[in-house]
Amino acid sequence: MNGPEHAIVVEDLVRTFKSFMSGSPEKVAVGGISFEVKKGEIFGILGPNGAGKTTTIKMLSGLLTPTSGKAMVLGMDVSDEKSVRSLRRRINIVAGGERGLYYRLSGRQNLEFFSDLYGIPKKEQKTLINGLLELVDLADAAEVKVENYSRGMKQRIHIARALINSPEILYLDEPTIGLDPEISRGIRGLVRKLSDGGATVILTTHYMFEAEELCDHMIIVSHGKVVGRGTVIEIKDSIADVSCIKVVTEADPAVAVAALRAEGLEAGVDALLNGRFVTKFAARKGDDALGSYEGLFAPFRVKSIGIEEPTLEDAYLTLVGGDAE
Ligand SMILES: Nc1ncnc2c1ncn2[C@@H]1O[C@H](COP(=O)(O)OP(=O)(O)OP(=O)(O)O)[C@@H](O)[C@H]1O
Ligand SMILES: [Mg+2]
Repeated sequence: MNGPEHAIVVEDLVRTFKSFMSGSPEKVAVGGISFEVKKGEIFGILGPNGAGKTTTIKMLSGLLTPTSGKAMVLGMDVSDEKSVRSLRRRINIVAGGERGLYYRLSGRQNLEFFSDLYGIPKKEQKTLINGLLELVDLADAAEVKVENYSRGMKQRIHIARALINSPEILYLDEPTIGLDPEISRGIRGLVRKLSDGGATVILTTHYMFEAEELCDHMIIVSHGKVVGRGTVIEIKDSIADVSCIKVVTEADPAVAVAALRAEGLEAGVDALLNGRFVTKFAARKGDDALGSYEGLFAPFRVKSIGIEEPTLEDAYLTLVGGDAE
């Protein structure tokens, strides 16, 4: 199970945090998760806010010690301090947020600084840094201070920074959050390129299309537990006993949606530009799917009602249940 084809093997990994209030129970951020990541794949960790995604990748990059359980990364135990020191040279992480770069320095100066930290000889730095600036499309902005970079540029220089040590595993914590669609697409292209170049990529995301587009395998976590796993197709199949129903109405069916939610069904409604409302929800098969729901939506003037193939998002919503945002 811990063969050379695996970049990561995680078994029953737990991380708790002490509560700030004395007497209250410890917060279980990660409550015993197990999974394996093959070398060279793009592996997704999906889950709602607070599910334990960041805590997991921090443990897998040696930034946070597990409370219990075991994680072997590139054959090294993340609970062992000595292993972690050698591991850090072979992996890297883009943890999001503003930290990790010197804003008063230019993009190039930042990369030089981090090259020095990794002990990369000066004579190799220029070629390496020019290559990375090229890769993340910042060659033209290399001499500009990072404080003057746009958000998308900052994220790209963060990624370049994380590639300085040619990591065998790159952890990306929500790499496209808050970025516009075009920049996000560029970042996804970059992730694909890194993977094609042989790196193993672990990606957390809230965006289903991103996971669908990029991830070879993924886990869906909720409240610190794995609630779904596999390829996109396997995850969709795992909810095969669920029908996804789509209803288009002329009036806002908020009351009907509230009724569905009261039954524990995950339902969402989007208003379309032409004034119509599209409601989607997952119902158990054999619920006499359409008939009963048609009546519920009738007061809102149903234009159409039908069963759709489940999307990854439908599967996600079904698996995380009421924990979804
Ligand atoms: N240092 C800490 N001290 C106390 N509680 C923490 C700490 N770090 C995380 N937690 C808690 O652990 C849980 C999991 O947090 P984590 O950041 O791993 O979630 P996440 O899945 O990354 O969420 P998000 O999508 O919002 O980034 C949350 O309830 C969080 O409040
Ligand atoms: Mg997080």
